Amino acid sequence: MSVSLLAREIKESPTLKLNETARILREKGEPVIHLGSGEPKSKVPLDAILSCAAKLRTADIRYTPTEGIPALLKAIIRYTEESYNKVIGPENVLVSSGAKQALYTLLMAIINPQDEVIITAPYWVSYPEIVKMVYGIPVIVKAEDGRFHPRMEDILQNVGSYTKAIILNSPNNPSGEVYSEEFIGEIVEFCEKKGIYLIMDDIYQKLIFDDRSPVSCYKFSKDNSDSSKLVVINGVSKMYAMTGFRIGWTIANRKLTEAMINVAAQNTSCPSIVSQTAATGALSGVQSSVEALRLFLENNRNIMVNELKSFAGIKITPPAGTFYCLPDFSAYHMKSTELSQFLVDKALVVTVPGVEFGMEGHLRLSYCGSVKDITDGIARIKWALDPDSPNEIYIGDRKCRRDWK
Ligand SMILES: Cc1ncc(COP(=O)(O)O)c(C=O)c1O
Repeated sequence: MSVSLLAREIKESPTLKLNETARILREKGEPVIHLGSGEPKSKVPLDAILSCAAKLRTADIRYTPTEGIPALLKAIIRYTEESYNKVIGPENVLVSSGAKQALYTLLMAIINPQDEVIITAPYWVSYPEIVKMVYGIPVIVKAEDGRFHPRMEDILQNVGSYTKAIILNSPNNPSGEVYSEEFIGEIVEFCEKKGIYLIMDDIYQKLIFDDRSPVSCYKFSKDNSDSSKLVVINGVSKMYAMTGFRIGWTIANRKLTEAMINVAAQNTSCPSIVSQTAATGALSGVQSSVEALRLFLENNRNIMVNELKSFAGIKITPPAGTFYCLPDFSAYHMKSTELSQFLVDKALVVTVPGVEFGMEGHLRLSYCGSVKDITDGIARIKWALDPDSPNEIYIGDRKCRRDWK
């Protein structure tokens, strides 16, 4: 089959592939534990469901303006004012079919072939691929000190005349790291001085622990003009557990938003009105589900970190947000892909190889499932990796052999 050079370049999404692996194993009746998941399991807020059901009952389901329905734009404007202390207008908002599409539309609108986009590692798996999809060049910057927090000096070393944009994601998928206020201040100032787009992917903004508050990048921005290059991406997928609705958005200057609207109009026309109505309900309704989810995740984070701390072979940096952590398993001297496969095969635990996030030797473990999944999942990983474990155990009525080398 003849596919384009570009399509040949684009990697399969490893996280979506692992969801499929977990689903197939479950369908076969295998007692699999999915620690690779990227979505909260809590129910969608009732206000979202009621709004969307009311819309469906009208049987009047049509195209919407490309930028989004006025009620959702209003809700996003209010959200931005409340959460970022930033006043914007409808001309600054474009609603997309998920934050993923928001990023794609944005990069389509700003990247010329060969433009470079700086991505700090560990990074969300889709960033480099989406940059390639618009013929840009992803430039991966890893902190020299081996930690998860990016450092200005490492970024500066990689900025050149081709640098068009920097993408940051805090709280961070896959590490759970929350970037410091000082760093956000410095990078906003730097990008404004250099005229580089700064893309803040804030999709986990409210899922933050230990009484920390999210940092608003706008606090440090001096450029309020129509040519500001600061762009914020957000959405309802994570904080409202609405991954299936596919609603995200960008906040950007008016001219850029107009350009993105043209791109989106020729691409999807608009996100589904049913989903937009649900997102409006979520953003405008009772907000208690966000705090309930945050508390649930903080408790799960504590459990996972405690379980992992008692695990002699790994190093853990406790996450301060999201529902992921990225322990270092390099003491086991296996490539992360090999280790992840070993754990599925031998212990029926799904994890995501760190190499997919630019962190070889690590595995991403999610704690958005049940406490039992976390404790059983880590107990199984320990059994599979601890040289002193028995070679055979029963998981349910399935006999598992690990055949440790
Ligand atoms: C950092 C980051 N950005 C964006 C997304 C995509 O969100 P959405 O489901 O709204 O497309 C994800 C999903 O995993 C993510 O982790």
